[in-house]
Amino acid sequence: MAVTCNGMQAFVSPRALRTNEIAGVVEQFRAAAQLARTAGFDGVEIHGANGYLIDQFLRNGSNHRTDNYGGTPARRLAFLLEIIEAVSEVWLREHIGVRLSPENRFNDMTDSDPDEHFAYFVTQLGHAKLAYLHVLEGDMMTHSSVLDYGALRRCFAGLYIANNGYDKARALDVLRDGKADLVAFGTAFIGNPDLVERLRHDWPLRAPDPETFYTGGERGYVDYPVFAPTAGDLP
Ligand SMILES: Cc1cc2nc3c(=O)[nH]c(=O)nc-3n(C[C@H](O)[C@H](O)[C@H](O)COP(=O)(O)O)c2cc1C
Repeated sequence: MAVTCNGMQAFVSPRALRTNEIAGVVEQFRAAAQLARTAGFDGVEIHGANGYLIDQFLRNGSNHRTDNYGGTPARRLAFLLEIIEAVSEVWLREHIGVRLSPENRFNDMTDSDPDEHFAYFVTQLGHAKLAYLHVLEGDMMTHSSVLDYGALRRCFAGLYIANNGYDKARALDVLRDGKADLVAFGTAFIGNPDLVERLRHDWPLRAPDPETFYTGGERGYVDYPVFAPTAGDLP
């Protein structure tokens, strides 16, 4: 089932893009990047993670193509590299990031050898002189992982952002060990609009309410309080 503006709906069966449709999709990425620029953004992150279109090309559980975009890791990467080229017509590379998720099973994604394939992808992306690579490490739901992300990080010549299930202690560990340059927090930000201050001062974190994650309206969206460091609230 998929989240839609009309509630949960059954998926339609996806079909593979025809080869002659791909250039048009690449152009849509360029156009979206242009819109972001016109809107005044500082840069764009190309979403190559979580089972969305680019990830469907990267991983061989979903990419069964027999044209120049399927088969070898180099061919599976070609779609993303074309998108980076197109987006580079709008933004300098130092304003372009890429997000990957080598092991995330979300959206039924699999790959026969994420270790070898993503080492290749990440090495190639290092030649693109991007602003950063942002990696959702392991599986988003279970946080389980078998891949050595320290080794993956070393494959990338550039700034590496780690994500998925981090707390302050683990984040400081990977920064200290050189396994990441930055750590991204997702869920913790939902319940803690002042997350940075809370982490800085070791104030307690508020657990977000999953019931409001995908609903409309302000509840669970803009109504989490900031921490009030009165004498009574301090840990
Ligand atoms: C409610 C919710 C919505 C999310 N939506 C997206 C999304 O649209 N695109 C995406 O790439 N990741 C999405 N994520 C995943 C987060 O970006 C992040 O990678 C994930 O939650 C792991 O980081 P964390 O443990 O710090 O939350 C979502 C996560 C949550 C909890």
